[in-house]
Amino acid sequence: MMIFSQKMQIATAIDELKAKQLSVGLVPTMGALHEGHLALVKKALNENDRVVVSVFVNPTQFDNKDDLKKYPRTLDDDVALLKTVSKAKIIVYAPTVEDIYEGKTKAEKFNFDGLEFEMEGKFRQGHFNGVGTIVKRFFEIVKPHRAYFGEKDFQQLTIIKKLVEKHNILVKVIGCPIHRETNGLAMSSRNTRLKPEYKKAAPFIYKILTTARVKFGTKSANKVSEWVEKEFAKHDLLKLEYFIIAETKTLKPVTRKSNKNIYRAFIAVYADDIRLIDNIALN
Ligand code: PAJ
Repeated sequence: MMIFSQKMQIATAIDELKAKQLSVGLVPTMGALHEGHLALVKKALNENDRVVVSVFVNPTQFDNKDDLKKYPRTLDDDVALLKTVSKAKIIVYAPTVEDIYEGKTKAEKFNFDGLEFEMEGKFRQGHFNGVGTIVKRFFEIVKPHRAYFGEKDFQQLTIIKKLVEKHNILVKVIGCPIHRETNGLAMSSRNTRLKPEYKKAAPFIYKILTTARVKFGTKSANKVSEWVEKEFAKHDLLKLEYFIIAETKTLKPVTRKSNKNIYRAFIAVYADDIRLIDNIALN
């Protein structure tokens, strides 16, 4: 398996692949890989000759220093896991902060037409500038034909599509469904940090989302939100940060339901000091 830590090296390797007319997919990750990441990698392998998996904990997208410090870094395990999928077709790009940011660890400022101010943008200041900066950088270095992002971070996926559209980047952005544990908990690298009692409690989030979906069939968005807030107020361990029903294109909270629009419910919850997000299609 080819593993690169420097952009010049990977850029040269990609040029060679492209000279051979091989197609290249990109799966950007922050590592601590799990089945959710692997689903993206497998889809990318089905649709491309080679797949670059980037593993980089991007400092500029963390508004919380402690979260950045504690974010799991498990490159050897990640490489071993990727080898179980394909040794020949996967290329790992695990750069250093210096290789990417060249001494200036700062995010670019983006205008994502307001998508960046909803939900995660409200609660994680500057987060999407950091995400935009790193993903644009990866697009420039790897120049993939296709790039794969999970619906687990639905707002991020929507924003990346906007980034590509606004900056005329030649890449097809492909969204992939959320991978869950059998108990419904959305897989996340942060789940490994959950203490046992919180791990046991966390599937409650998906239970609430699925019930909210049923309620949304007959009730207003406000009524559903009130119900969710009450359910969390009764919960001993999990603290609700937000529950929002929004329209999927604009990500604006729904004011009045219309059959013409497609809606999703988005949720952020604290399990102890660990922040978990999830979402579900409603109609
Ligand atoms: P990370 O959280 O590692 O996720 C990498 C990709 O895997 C994202 O596209 C994310 O949506 C997807 N993913 C994570 N858990 C998933 C699950 N349970 N089901 C489906 N897809 C899942 O998202 C990031 O990293 C970063 O913001 C990044 C895009 C790499 C930029 O730094």
